[in-house]
Amino acid sequence: MKVLLLENIHPVAVEILETRGFEVELRAGSLSEDELVAALDGVHLLGIRSNTTITPRVLEHAQDLLAIGCFCIGTNQVDLEAAAARGVAVFNAPYSNTRSVVELVIAEIVVLARRLAEKTQRMHDGVWDKSAKGSHEVRGRTLGIVGYGNIGTQLSNLAEAMGLRVIFFDTADRLAHGNARRVSTLDELLAEADVVSIHVDGRPGNAGMFGAAEFAKMKPRSLFINASRGMVVDDQALREHILSGHIAGAALDVFPVEPKKQGDEFMSVLRGLDNVILTPHVGGSTQEAQEEIGYFVAGKLAGFALQGMTALSVNLPAVQAPELEPGTFRVGYLHINVPGVLAGVNQVLAEQGDNVVGQYLSTRGEQGYVVTDAVDPVSPESLKALVENPHTIWLRTWQA
Ligand SMILES: NC(=O)c1ccc[n+]([C@@H]2O[C@H](COP(=O)([O-])OP(=O)(O)OC[C@H]3O[C@@H](n4cnc5c(N)ncnc54)[C@H](O)[C@@H]3O)[C@@H](O)[C@H]2O)c1
Repeated sequence: MKVLLLENIHPVAVEILETRGFEVELRAGSLSEDELVAALDGVHLLGIRSNTTITPRVLEHAQDLLAIGCFCIGTNQVDLEAAAARGVAVFNAPYSNTRSVVELVIAEIVVLARRLAEKTQRMHDGVWDKSAKGSHEVRGRTLGIVGYGNIGTQLSNLAEAMGLRVIFFDTADRLAHGNARRVSTLDELLAEADVVSIHVDGRPGNAGMFGAAEFAKMKPRSLFINASRGMVVDDQALREHILSGHIAGAALDVFPVEPKKQGDEFMSVLRGLDNVILTPHVGGSTQEAQEEIGYFVAGKLAGFALQGMTALSVNLPAVQAPELEPGTFRVGYLHINVPGVLAGVNQVLAEQGDNVVGQYLSTRGEQGYVVTDAVDPVSPESLKALVENPHTIWLRTWQA
């Protein structure tokens, strides 16, 4: 099978795919729609990052394409519905940069508590301002984490290791790590925390969740960090609370409006404020995260092409079947989800007297995906009725 990897994907992805028997072609840049249409003939797996747009037209012409790996976090550069309709699986790496975000936040907690941003600026301006005023250790201070998911929980562990007390608020039931303590309302957290760090997800209800009322409820001279989503925070309200001195410092990595491309001017009401760290959405941008993304997405592409696994696909029903056992035959059947499909698969196997050793089914929207493991190979003639069913999207078989 042939793989085309665009946009300088990490070499670890090439290594994983070649080791598993794929022929890999690499191109450094992205391709336009017309270039993709020409390049995808004979390509089974495509790897992209955020600069390649996959339109319905591209998919229509990519007759051999089985799956697309987005070697990044976002997937909005791919028309996911059009891909699903053609049975093309799309994968991404939503959690590969968790540690990178956490390390940035840990650094920011210390940098804000010591007011290092303004101290280093003064030194560059030639001013020797040696003073302990407004500088604090973080040991013994209380960190309030809002959103205790992948990032929030890892932050909790690292922060405790540095001697911070951790409290958290999450709208879902989350198990406390270490000595962290759950609080039952956001207000409770705001009243107690010396540092508030936001790690909620991007659900629409979180737009504007942190504004003037929330800043006012924070402790006087406390610190604020947001490395989650820009739309969550009212930056104007934050500006006012920093200027009034109620908030002693802030670190922002995400913004309601971010420049579209490298070099575009960054516009924000937070520019020019003392003890405010502004970073260009780089929380997850490290070499290590890139490597982890390469490893993760290449594994998903190979698992799909070689064993029919769709777990963590962003657009097809997710099936996580066990590794195909030697001597086992697997049928993967993606179809429009109508009654009787499973019975049809089992009928084919029963007619052959085959012994089913495992069956895994999942549905998503209008589609269903069933993976069946059997002891003996099923002949293509026996599967013909299923292949010709008008509700079939694709049927593939594998043998270990
Ligand atoms: N700055 C960056 O470069 C960068 C990199 C990766 C992730 N992120 C962002 O970080 C955020 C967290 O990522 P994650 O992987 O930990 O997500 P996650 O889905 O694992 O965790 C989010 C948590 O927030 C909770 N939550 C949602 N709304 C809430 C609310 N209003 N109040 C309290 N809790 C709420 C959820 O229940 C969940 O536990 C996401 O918004 C993600 O997009 C940013």
